[in-house]
Amino acid sequence: MRVIIKPDYDTVSKWAANYIVYRINKFRPSATRPFVLGLPTGSTPLGMYRELIDLYQKRKVSFENVVTFNMDEYIGLKPQDKQSYRYFMEENFFKHVNLKPQNIHMLNGMTKDYEKECSDYEKAIRQAGGIHLFIGGIGTDGHIAFNEPFSSLSSRTRVKTLTDSTIKANSRFFDGDLSKVPTTVLTVGVATIMDAAEVLILATGENKAKALKHGIEGGVSHVWTISALQMHPHGIIVCDKPATKELSEQTVNYFMEIEKNNF
Ligand code: PGA
Repeated sequence: MRVIIKPDYDTVSKWAANYIVYRINKFRPSATRPFVLGLPTGSTPLGMYRELIDLYQKRKVSFENVVTFNMDEYIGLKPQDKQSYRYFMEENFFKHVNLKPQNIHMLNGMTKDYEKECSDYEKAIRQAGGIHLFIGGIGTDGHIAFNEPFSSLSSRTRVKTLTDSTIKANSRFFDGDLSKVPTTVLTVGVATIMDAAEVLILATGENKAKALKHGIEGGVSHVWTISALQMHPHGIIVCDKPATKELSEQTVNYFMEIEKNNF
């Protein structure tokens, strides 16, 4: 696993966006051979999306031949609901770049048939040739996508019930009203993410420090699903200094030293 430690949120956002652009451009995607990108929502990636839009406007990247798969969606929210992840993605990224609508994939939280929706999603990922780069955030409880503690590390796309801590954390997007937060979601599984050729996780702020400690220094465990990244051959965490607060000095020094001349 690589751990890239940056001073603050802005440098993490810039690094992540530039890394995505570097990967897309290196791949030289075409209509018949698109680059397949996994995408998250949440507060953490907002800066990264802003940087990506900026790089697109400066013509450093084109999304014409990029296919996207988002991680998750709330059950029961319509795409036009302001708190739905579909709405989030449209507002914060999709409408600003040249992604083709048919290349955008998101789970439908309004489906009547969850099982079919989830198995069709896995099938669509396979048909696209698999995900080249999956971007994610982490929850304070160490979740990746909505794979809450004790999710199977071999889980695939399915329905999940949110934990109280996630409902509380996400209530900030629902006027602070816990009762407005959907309690169930559709989410890719840990194994769906781990199947990607490369996984890049963003973690910023001191409230992610405990999850990062368990993810990097703890053992692989379903208690902190982020720890599955230890089993991935090409896993990267990019984090800011406050998120490293619970890591040992030795760990921080090791990664600062080994990554100092890398992208
Ligand atoms: P956040 O959420 O970026 O809003 O902190 C991350 C997550 O829950 O995965």
